[in-house]
Amino acid sequence: MNAEAQAPAHFDQAWRPDSWQQKKALQQATYPDTEALQRAVDELSSLPPLVTSWEVNALKKQLAEAQAGKRFLLQGGDCAERFSECRADTISNRLKVLLQMSLVLVHGLKMPVIRLGRFAGQYAKPRSSDIEARDGVELPSYRGDLINGSEFTEKARIPDPQRLIEGYSRAALTLNFVRGLIEGGFADLHHPEYWDLSWVEHSPLAEEYQAMVKSIGDSLRFMETLAGRRISDFQRVDFFTSHEALHLHYEQAQTRQVPHQWGWFNLSTHLPWIGMRTAQLDGAHVEYCRGIRNPIGLKIGPGYDPDWLSRVIEVLNPDDEAGKLVLIHRLGAGQVEAQLPDMIRAVQRTGRRVLWISDPMHGNTETSSNGYKTRRFDKIRSELEESFDVHEALGSRLGGVHLELTGENVTECTGGARALADVDLSRAYKTGVDPRLNYEQALEMAMLIVRKRGAETV
Ligand code: PEP
Ligand code: CO
Repeated sequence: MNAEAQAPAHFDQAWRPDSWQQKKALQQATYPDTEALQRAVDELSSLPPLVTSWEVNALKKQLAEAQAGKRFLLQGGDCAERFSECRADTISNRLKVLLQMSLVLVHGLKMPVIRLGRFAGQYAKPRSSDIEARDGVELPSYRGDLINGSEFTEKARIPDPQRLIEGYSRAALTLNFVRGLIEGGFADLHHPEYWDLSWVEHSPLAEEYQAMVKSIGDSLRFMETLAGRRISDFQRVDFFTSHEALHLHYEQAQTRQVPHQWGWFNLSTHLPWIGMRTAQLDGAHVEYCRGIRNPIGLKIGPGYDPDWLSRVIEVLNPDDEAGKLVLIHRLGAGQVEAQLPDMIRAVQRTGRRVLWISDPMHGNTETSSNGYKTRRFDKIRSELEESFDVHEALGSRLGGVHLELTGENVTECTGGARALADVDLSRAYKTGVDPRLNYEQALEMAMLIVRKRGAETV
């Protein structure tokens, strides 16, 4: 029996993909027809997986390297994917901006980057209220395309189990296209011009970006001249997927055992994460996530309890497996210095391995003067910079970033090199839930990370 086939000491043989049903599950939809839900779950359970256990293990290995300070994690994509946005241009533009950001990071940080999309399954959303009221009319809240429709009508807001199958199918279509692009040479470092978005010609950042692309091209040609051949390693990159493991019937249905491996894998995504609102120690989401072999993300917000944190780490990673846990803090600019040091110390006291990353988006959401849900670029930037500093000061390391972004030219966050103001928001405000960095703001953020880290490592 090889080592991978053997369960480690703490593996709970009694755990099952549906054992979460014995616990309290927050943020779940209430389906009017539970038999229809069961039929959808059964169908989903019979469909082939979207990812493989080899890929999941490969990601875990890369995350272990990131924990050891040898890689940087770039996790990014939509707040809420929409079924209607499962289109060639939306998918390839998002891939382009992530590739461009990773190029900036690899070049500037001088280390490999793990590319982790928030896509191919990011269809379910936690909501602060079960009810949405408009002009005196109250309806169930929109919970993401996996559950109900966003239109403000009674019919659209009824949870529909067929959406689980639709979500799986759209995730498969997305992933199929991403894999085709990557395998077909789209991510070839010899041709970064494939990823150029239209802005590159007229952006305030264009010159800096093009100079970097040129320097990478020159280095590549130099190495190939030395080697006397084309280096094929540069023709493709790894791309992984992630989404919030919120809708537990969806996750359960795609949780599988595979030959020659012990335990269970969630094969709907490489890295599921637990959202801030559903991370209770005795809750259903922690129960579900503790049983799968995927690496797990855990969001940690303001007011978290240090005791909860050390216990949840123990529950999710009892064997202290390398590459298993990604802790994603999302505190808000100005909150980092007050809250992050104790968080880091609480984890240091456990002596456990984790990868720390910062989500500088979710603690910085506000309403603009003209009523849009927005985020200011400068606050996002401050939270990130403060986080790098606090980790450094405590002998810890911030090893990645988690961003909500899109490859489209939207106007949802203010600020950035183009100094978008509140009045600009109405021009192209398209998000279903949270405001995203547009392609230009996202790339600028990557450049600022390099500037920050560059300064620290001199
Ligand atoms: C999200 O990532 O979209 C989200 C809802 O985050 P959090 O759980 O951190 O609030
Ligand atoms: Co969000």
